[in-house]
Amino acid sequence: MAADKPKFYITTPIYYTNGLPHIGHTYSTIVCDTIRRYKRMRGYDVVMTTGTDEHGVNVERAAKQAGVSETEFVAKMAADWRALWDELGIQGDEFIRTTDLKHAHTVQWLFRLCRENGYVYKGHYTGQYCIYDNAFVNDAKPGDNCPDCGRPTETITEENYFFKLSAFQKPLLDFYQKNPGFIQPDTRRNEIISFVEGGLKDLSITRTTIRWGIPVPGEEPHVFYVWFDALTAYLSAVGGPQYEEHGYWPADVHLVGKDIIRFHTVYWPAFLMAAMLPLPKQVWAHGWFLMDAAKMSKSKGNVVLPRPIVYVLGMDALRYYVLRDTVFGQDGNFSYDALVTRYNSDLANGLGNFASRTAAMIEKNFSGKIPKPGSLQPQDEALTKEIQSAIGEVLERFDKCGFSLALELIWSLIAAADKYLASEQPWALGTSDTDAQRRATILWTAAEALRVVTVLAHPVLPDSTARVWTLLGQPGHVGSQDLDGLRWGQLKPGTPLGKSQTLFPRIEKAEAIERMEAMENEPQKPATAPAPGTTPGVAAAAPQSAPEKIGIEDFAKVEMRVGEIKTAERIVGADKLLKLTVDIGTEIRQICAGIAPYYEPDKLIGRKVAVVTNLAPRKLRGVESNGMIIAASVGPEGRPVLAGFHEDVEIGARLK
Ligand code: MSP
Repeated sequence: MAADKPKFYITTPIYYTNGLPHIGHTYSTIVCDTIRRYKRMRGYDVVMTTGTDEHGVNVERAAKQAGVSETEFVAKMAADWRALWDELGIQGDEFIRTTDLKHAHTVQWLFRLCRENGYVYKGHYTGQYCIYDNAFVNDAKPGDNCPDCGRPTETITEENYFFKLSAFQKPLLDFYQKNPGFIQPDTRRNEIISFVEGGLKDLSITRTTIRWGIPVPGEEPHVFYVWFDALTAYLSAVGGPQYEEHGYWPADVHLVGKDIIRFHTVYWPAFLMAAMLPLPKQVWAHGWFLMDAAKMSKSKGNVVLPRPIVYVLGMDALRYYVLRDTVFGQDGNFSYDALVTRYNSDLANGLGNFASRTAAMIEKNFSGKIPKPGSLQPQDEALTKEIQSAIGEVLERFDKCGFSLALELIWSLIAAADKYLASEQPWALGTSDTDAQRRATILWTAAEALRVVTVLAHPVLPDSTARVWTLLGQPGHVGSQDLDGLRWGQLKPGTPLGKSQTLFPRIEKAEAIERMEAMENEPQKPATAPAPGTTPGVAAAAPQSAPEKIGIEDFAKVEMRVGEIKTAERIVGADKLLKLTVDIGTEIRQICAGIAPYYEPDKLIGRKVAVVTNLAPRKLRGVESNGMIIAASVGPEGRPVLAGFHEDVEIGARLK
C-alpha cells in the first residue's frame, strides 16, 4: 500500500515555452524518469514533477509575433511539451504550469510569508531598458544597445519588491555545512560555497514593466519576476500551502542542469528559510549535451531532436546512450555515430542477442519451458557468484546517480553470461541423460542471468526489459519487481516461455544516421512512436493527418528563390547526400541534398532549382547545409525529382 511506503519526491526543471524539447531537455527528463522507476522498484511511493515555465517578456514577444494572446500561446506550447513526454513515455506524475491558478496562489502565499517575516521590502531597481522591446536588458551598461533589436537602451529606474538575500549568507553556509549532500556533485558544491562566501546582494523579485506574470496582490502593476515564480512551482505541484496534507514536500531531489544550480541552491533555500518552510534535501546538477563542442541551442541551429532517434532506434536506445556514454554530472558530446554504435554493440549484439539465443535454445530443447538445473560445476558457480555479488554494487551505483557505472556493470554481467554460453556450448552436447541434464543446467543458468540483468536494467530500458520479461514467461510487470528482494536462484523451472519478442534488430549505421538526420529536417509533428517490437529502421513516419490550412502570412514566412547549381559532389560515408554549392543571386550557398542515388553530380552543374533560402543552417553528417532544394517525392520509396523551370528565369528571383 502506498500509505506504508516511504515517500520520494523528484523534480525536473520546468521548461521555458519558447521552443520544443531537444536532447538537452530530454536528458533531464530521462534521468528523472530513470530515478523514478528505480526508486519505485526499491519500495518508494514516488512522485515526479515536470512542467512549463510560462511567464515573462519572451512569451509576451513570442505571442505577439504569432498574433495570438499569451494565454493561447502558452496553452499550445504546454500541450506540445506534454504530448512529447507522453509520446516518449516519460510524462512524470504531475505536470505543473506556472499559469495554473494553484501555482499563482502558492507564489502569492510564499511572498506573504516572506514579507510577514520581514524579508521583503520595496526599493528601486535601476537598469538598462529597451523602450522598443519594453524590457530590461540584463547585465547591460549605460550606452549598450539592446541585443534583440540593436537599438540603444535607456537607463530606467522602477519600483520593485526586493528579497533580503543578503541576510541569508550565514544561514546558507551553515546549511551547506550541516548537509554536505545537499549540492551534488561536489565540484558544484565548492563553486556555490565560494559564491555565497563572496557575499549576496538583495534580489529584485517583482517588476512593473512586465505584464505577463502573476500579480502581487494589492500591489498591481507589480508581477512576480522569473525565479520567485518559477522555483515555487516545485511546491505548487505537491499541494502548495497544503503541502503537509499531500505529504511529498520537502523534495528529495531537484534535478537541474549546471546552468541553473545557483538559483536552486542559493535563492530557493533562502526563499524557503525566509518563509520558515522545509528545505529540499538535494539538488543534483547534470552537465550539458554538447553538439560540435557547443551547448545546443535553437539560435545556433545545433539542436538534436528526440523524435527522429526514437523513430529509428527506439526510446530505450536513446535512454541507454545518454546514460551510458556520459558520466553523470559532466558534459557529454552528442554524436549519432556513437549512438548507433552503442545500439548495435550493447543492445542488438549484447542484451538482444543474449536474450534471443537463450530463449531459442530453451524453445528447441525443452519445448519452451524453463529447464530444471542439475548439480553445478565450478564454471556455473563462478557465474552465479559474479552475478549475485554484483546486484548490491549495481544498486549502490544507481543510488549515487552513477548511471554509466551501473550500466557498465550490468553489461559486464551480460558479457560474462555470453562467454559462459560460448564456452559451455550447450548446442554441442549429445542426447544422453547426462548431456541433457548438463544442457538443462547451462540453459537454466543463462535464463536466470537474463532474468537478473533484466530486472537491474529496467529503470533505464523500460520497454525492452518488459519484453524480455514476457519472453521469459515471468508473472506481473518487471517494473513492479522488488530490487531489494532480487536474488540469484528465483527462476522457477517449468515456467513456459512467453511469446517471442523482437528486441533490437541490427541496423546499418550509415542508413540509420541518414534517416535520423533527414527526419530532423522535417517539421516535427506529434505522432505515435513505433509500437514495441516494430522493427527500428523500418518504422513508418508519422501517419499523415489531413494537412492543416495555413494563412497567406504563414506561407510568406518561407523565402524561396531561383538558384543555380555551381558544384556538386558526393559526401564520403553518406550514400544519399550530395554537397552542392548554389548561386542564389545574392551569395553562393552550400546545401546538402538527399538526392545522391538519383542524380549524377556532374549532370547537375548549371541546373536551375528552387531553393528555400531562409531555413536555419543545419549540419548533415557533419557538413553544413544552408538552405533546402525543393523536390517532388515520387512513388512509394519517395524518389526525389527536382523542381525546375521551363522558361528562362533569373538567378535569385523570388518564388511566390
Ligand atoms: N525555466 C528554467 C528552469 C526553471 S526551474 C524552476 C529553465 N528552462 S530551460 O528550458 O531553459 O532549461 C531547462 C533545463 O534544460 C535546464 O536544467 C538546462 O540545464 C537543461 N538543458 C538545456 N539545454 C541543455 C543541454 N544542451 N544539455 C543538457 N541540459 C540542458 O532554465
